[in-house]
Amino acid sequence: MTILFSETKINGMSLSNRFVRSATWSGMAAQDGSPTPQLVDLLMKLAQGGVGMIITGHAYIRKDGQAGPNQLGAYSDKLIPGLLDLVQTVHDQGGKIVLQVSHAGFFANPNVTGTIPIAPSTMEGMAKAPRKEMTHQDIREVIEGFGAAAMRAREAGFDGVQIHAAHGYLLSQFFSPKLNHRTDEYGGIIGNRARLLLEVFRAIRGTVGRDYPLLVKMNSQDFVDGGLVLEDSIQVGLMLEDEGIDAIELSGGLPISKELGSIRKGIVAEGREAYFRDEARAFRDTVSVPLILVGGIRSFQVAERLVKEGVADYLSMSRPFIREPDLINRWKAGDLRKSTCVSGNSCLTAAMRGEGIYCVTGKRQQNNPEVI
Ligand SMILES: Cc1cc2nc3c(=O)[nH]c(=O)nc-3n(C[C@H](O)[C@H](O)[C@H](O)COP(=O)(O)O)c2cc1C
Repeated sequence: MTILFSETKINGMSLSNRFVRSATWSGMAAQDGSPTPQLVDLLMKLAQGGVGMIITGHAYIRKDGQAGPNQLGAYSDKLIPGLLDLVQTVHDQGGKIVLQVSHAGFFANPNVTGTIPIAPSTMEGMAKAPRKEMTHQDIREVIEGFGAAAMRAREAGFDGVQIHAAHGYLLSQFFSPKLNHRTDEYGGIIGNRARLLLEVFRAIRGTVGRDYPLLVKMNSQDFVDGGLVLEDSIQVGLMLEDEGIDAIELSGGLPISKELGSIRKGIVAEGREAYFRDEARAFRDTVSVPLILVGGIRSFQVAERLVKEGVADYLSMSRPFIREPDLINRWKAGDLRKSTCVSGNSCLTAAMRGEGIYCVTGKRQQNNPEVI
């Protein structure tokens, strides 16, 4: 049997295969951040489709950290009952589900939060509306917010928590010399820029305990001039390893990285797949915690090779599961044709229009089979 369907454990969480549904904002939560029946149904179909671990879309840990409309929330105890139902539905299908906790920082959306976004630095001129540089008090409150949100995840029955420290959200902003111009102990050398993530990590460990799976998603590089570089992200990986992280999901790119962002288009040829594989290889040479690789993985054979060659332990995908929630069951049944996702990103724009995520290309083809 292929190594991709071997059972593994991440800090006690048993996984039936090495495939992960990468965190995916769906725009399907209610206005207050609670799960809707449509969102629960989407996650139920993913669990039925055989993916080993589902990571939710980023859930905002405080109201001022919300990135967009209809985003899942984890900012209040009042959300726990809805989250409990969501988790129960996934568990009933034999799935595993991890809550991604996040604060959007600079990229919080003042139209939905009604407040001035907080950030490591104000970055005058980069956004239309002003940003507020975080004080030490703000930093302490954010750390507490992450700890409380993670505790809610545990109370709601999630199998683990993933800290979102990638793609230019708050914790990734602190890593990035492009977005972090601080001169205090949270800016400058990488040990300082990673301080907030480590403090968040410790706060969460302190509340959920050592036996609870705790993951981080982080950038390998920002792919912008003056941004986070691989050498520094490897240092962060080592720091997380020392702290006792259970797995790292490696990604890359900021919202300003253009075609080198986290959600790259046109992944049709095999050579374009797994677009952070070189970074993962370098990371692997130094950091030995379980590594989840994301970004443009589309073929079973590519996935298998990545694991066999020791580049990654787990393969994470987002867009292929929007197109085919049962991709893993299809592969398991022996139909090894690659994902039919064309990486056109129309799913993202549909969600931004308020339609919720779905495969726009797939729907178009259903309505008109002539269309490719
Ligand atoms: C619609 C959509 C929503 C996303 N939302 C999140 C998110 O909430 N958190 C996150 O870390 N990444 C998010 N991503 C990025 C994905 O997790 C993943 O890193 C990226 O799409 C590359 O993987 P893929 O090529 O398999 O799609 C999102 C991507 C898409 C397409």
